[in-house]
Amino acid sequence: MHQTSNEDITRAFNKNARLYDRWMTFFERYIAQGARAWAVSKAHGAVIEIGVGSGLNLPLYGPRVEHVTGFDLSEKMLAIARRRVLEKRIGRVDLHHGDAQNLNLPSESADTFISTFTFCTIPDPLAASREAYRILRAGGVFVLTEHGRSTRALARSVMRAIEPLIIRVSAEHITRDPVPYLTSAGFTVTEVQRGGPGGIVFRILAHKQPLRD
Ligand SMILES: C[S@@+](CC[C@H](N)C(=O)[O-])C[C@H]1O[C@@H](n2cnc3c(N)ncnc32)[C@H](O)[C@@H]1O
Repeated sequence: MHQTSNEDITRAFNKNARLYDRWMTFFERYIAQGARAWAVSKAHGAVIEIGVGSGLNLPLYGPRVEHVTGFDLSEKMLAIARRRVLEKRIGRVDLHHGDAQNLNLPSESADTFISTFTFCTIPDPLAASREAYRILRAGGVFVLTEHGRSTRALARSVMRAIEPLIIRVSAEHITRDPVPYLTSAGFTVTEVQRGGPGGIVFRILAHKQPLRD
């Protein structure tokens, strides 16, 4: 299967940025209902959002969130997010061009990592999981909502068959399951919910355990 690179991601999302919000409105109305609101509701303290995209989460963060630092590889997506922050006068947010696989942030400096529909696009999801683990404080949480492989065998086979084409066109892995990457990085996966048509929508909480005496 084609191995994506950061350049593939940047190209795909710069190209599709203009239509992104419209496509997500459809996707969230019919497929991933409530998943974004669920993910944002789990965030607290100092939050790092990877693949912040056009900033659809930014107006939704509640009072338990002190500050959000968002990163993305696509300048076109970031431009939409920056406009949203200005137009909606959203405070407590910084947005940066940056790579979730290698973030210029100190270790143990965040309470929450959040990835909404981003994990499926990251070229090296294990590197991104390790980076989240490094930057989270003990007891911190990585919140993910994603689309991935179906729980139904036939749908799963169809998804596997069309995945190489989807990767080439939009740099998205449609059968990726985040859980093995999270556990390999050291996280304890504390919640996994599957929903949407054929169970393709994942809601996941993974904790960095507090140090024991
Ligand atoms: C499908 S969009 C999701 C955007 C947003 N999180 C949302 O919920 O609408 C995936 C985003 O992840 C970004 N992305 C993919 N790999 C990345 C990486 N390694 N580092 C930073 N951003 C990345 C893409 O540029 C794109 O904006």
